[in-house]
Amino acid sequence: MKKIAFFDTKPYDRYWFDHFNQHYEINYFESKLNEKTAQLANGADAVCAFVNDTINAQTIDLLNQYGVQVIAMRCSGYNNIDMKAAYKKIHIVRVPIYSPYAVAEHTMGLLLCLNRKIHRAYNRTRDFNFSLNGLTGIDLHNKTAGIIGTGNIGRIFLDICRGFGMKTIAYDPYPIANAGITYVDLPTLFKESDVISLHCPLTDKTYHILDSQAFAQMKKGVFILNTSRGALIESSALLKALNQEIVRGAGLDVYEEEADLFFEDFSGSIIKDETLALLVSCPNVLLTSHQAFLTEEALSNIVHVTLKNLDSFFSGEVLENEICYYCEDGKNTENCKRKKGERCF
Ligand code: NAI
Repeated sequence: MKKIAFFDTKPYDRYWFDHFNQHYEINYFESKLNEKTAQLANGADAVCAFVNDTINAQTIDLLNQYGVQVIAMRCSGYNNIDMKAAYKKIHIVRVPIYSPYAVAEHTMGLLLCLNRKIHRAYNRTRDFNFSLNGLTGIDLHNKTAGIIGTGNIGRIFLDICRGFGMKTIAYDPYPIANAGITYVDLPTLFKESDVISLHCPLTDKTYHILDSQAFAQMKKGVFILNTSRGALIESSALLKALNQEIVRGAGLDVYEEEADLFFEDFSGSIIKDETLALLVSCPNVLLTSHQAFLTEEALSNIVHVTLKNLDSFFSGEVLENEICYYCEDGKNTENCKRKKGERCF
């Protein structure tokens, strides 16, 4: 029986994986994977990891020494992996799509809640405070949503916005032809949008794509939504833009320094991250802790695809969901062996 070292385990992970697993010995660890915890994978054939594991060169070298052949990411993003260090050492597979609907619907949930201040109303009415003061929102109908990244999630969010009668514009360096999407450049998107939603991956090019220069170009009163990756936004610049009332509200499912915080309970502690503490203290910031994916459908798909990825790996098949240093942006067809029906190495 092949052994899997499973990191950053939460009760719902264990429930769903145990439910569907038939032929792997899974050792569940609550610890996140990093260079200090990699030794837990000693003797495992595969590692199963998640968004906030630190899969840097040191972690990869250690896993390689311990005989781990493949890292099965149970998520789509892989910005936490040093892909160059992994190349030719450890294969990386992922779940490219598990429920783009889950993430897109959560994004709209954040917007609706923020705009109509439902989070504040909920707290008030529980206290029998039925005052409406300070709860005024805006109609979304006829407003402009600017979507950055029109991949699986971005396109669904765009359709949801259209369902609300919103105008939609988008920016993507790889626009989809004939998809009926109005593409504009970033400065135009910043200038014209009433709602800006991030749906692009975190790369060197998208790091702090919303920085102080970007906020300075935006319409006063814009809503910012980020359900992609925290470091797409320069948090201190967002805080300033909130203070200056450029940003009317921010719905965030991710935060650039989330790795040591999200998915854990710190309700009895003082949070040392002052930017996060200030953001959370803003009544017009709604923060969820990377939960946009968390639906039954998504969890079930994650388990099925992760186990199928591992089955394909151990049976020597071509890995449909493999990613590597050369094909990581999915656009580098020239050097992509997977597209020629081979494994990445
Ligand atoms: P996708 O790969 O289908 O789409 C990403 C899009 O971003 C592509 O169209 C790509 O061309 C575009 N893009 C690449 N570079 C860009 C740039 N510089 N500027 C603008 N667009 C750019 O990915 P998908 O499935 O739509 O996911 C989007 C992001 O959502 C992921 O990268 C991941 O970080 C995040 N995510 C968050 C989850 C959560 O629970 N909060 C769950 C799943 C994904």
